[in-house]
Amino acid sequence: MATYAGVPVCIKDLENIARASMPVDAWGYYDSGANSEQTKLNNTFAFDEYRLHPRMLRDVSAISTETTVLGQRIRTPLGVAPCAMHKLAHSEGELATSRAAASHGSIMILSTYSTTSLERVIAQGGGATQYWMQLYVYRDRAVSESIVRRAEKAGFKALVLTVDAPILGRRLVDARNKFNPPAHLHLENFMDPSVVNQAGGYVPDLAKSTAETFGATFGANGDQSLSWENGIAWLKTITTLPIIVKGILTKEDTELAIQYGCAGVIVSNHGGRQLDGTLASIDALPQVVEAAQDKIEVYMDGGIRRGSDIFKALALGARAVFVARPVLWGLAYKGEEGARLALELLQSELELTMALAGTANTGQIDESFVYQPTNRWVRYKPAPAQGGRRRRELAAKL
Ligand SMILES: Cc1cc2nc3c(=O)[nH]c(=O)nc-3n(C[C@H](O)[C@H](O)[C@H](O)COP(=O)(O)O)c2cc1C
Repeated sequence: MATYAGVPVCIKDLENIARASMPVDAWGYYDSGANSEQTKLNNTFAFDEYRLHPRMLRDVSAISTETTVLGQRIRTPLGVAPCAMHKLAHSEGELATSRAAASHGSIMILSTYSTTSLERVIAQGGGATQYWMQLYVYRDRAVSESIVRRAEKAGFKALVLTVDAPILGRRLVDARNKFNPPAHLHLENFMDPSVVNQAGGYVPDLAKSTAETFGATFGANGDQSLSWENGIAWLKTITTLPIIVKGILTKEDTELAIQYGCAGVIVSNHGGRQLDGTLASIDALPQVVEAAQDKIEVYMDGGIRRGSDIFKALALGARAVFVARPVLWGLAYKGEEGARLALELLQSELELTMALAGTANTGQIDESFVYQPTNRWVRYKPAPAQGGRRRRELAAKL
């Protein structure tokens, strides 16, 4: 457990504790973004460009953060994003995160590259929350299909297909550190006897995969020819679970997600770990919400570090948000208790923001509560015919 002079009272404190207590290379793996980390940094800073536009004298004596996701009521719009290898932060890894998420009522999206098998992770929840299974599609479709079958059997409520990682982004920090995690960690989802390849046997490299061989495994097995047709349409032939596409940043791809019958999209740039230089997630959100036209659900992740960030995302149209690094930092601080603390800190800040902004429930939060003093577009729109040079430049950039 980390030593810390004070009590952590915000996510920044948890970040500082994790940075000070984790091995340098494991910290680097969690923290790093791709290349010059523009997108990673932008994800957090971009929230500052949206100011709150609060209303007064409204009854905020009872605050509720309840909402619905995929037709189910949930206590909070704050969930856990899929992250590989929680055991780098704490020996109990995903089991601890799972208990924390369940007790908090947060949806947990489990990474395919977890260091604990999906069956063991969901078993910790005791039915207290929803679990969604994150997927990659492999060249050998039998491998992906076996994960889908196990997720269905174990009770996962949705499949989250990550589409922004046909190959792994280049993370300079990991390259510099020669990131080489402990050999006792395994990508346990690939160690189950049910993971068979088309020849009917284990997939040798994935089955033996340690975190050390992760990057190579990823590249060698992922299907870089994946498309809407051979990916989403194929997935729909093998499962009836709702499909959520993770890694969407544009209105064009949102329209395709609707066309291909997805249940939702997660506006995300993978925490800035894939393509560097993209829009921040919060900046991409409005155009996705507009294109979704309430036909599919829109969620987002990336850069959320405060309850007011969650509020802004909800105001701009996200139905729910997910956090990755804050939970990993909490896990590094104190296992299950620390992961729960990360969620609780964000939750209580969200409730405080709602009360001070004059919103008693999530249904009252809409775009009238955010404002961009820099005159940037809040909604994605084509350049106006008459709108001044700066506006046209900014609209053209989008
Ligand atoms: C250490 C780490 C591992 C991740 N592993 C995965 C993964 O296995 N699958 C995936 O879809 N996204 C993965 N992500 C991306 C997150 O799901 C999410 O999109 C992003 O990190 C959210 O931003 P935040 O960390 O600022 O909250 C990972 C992110 C981190 C930081």
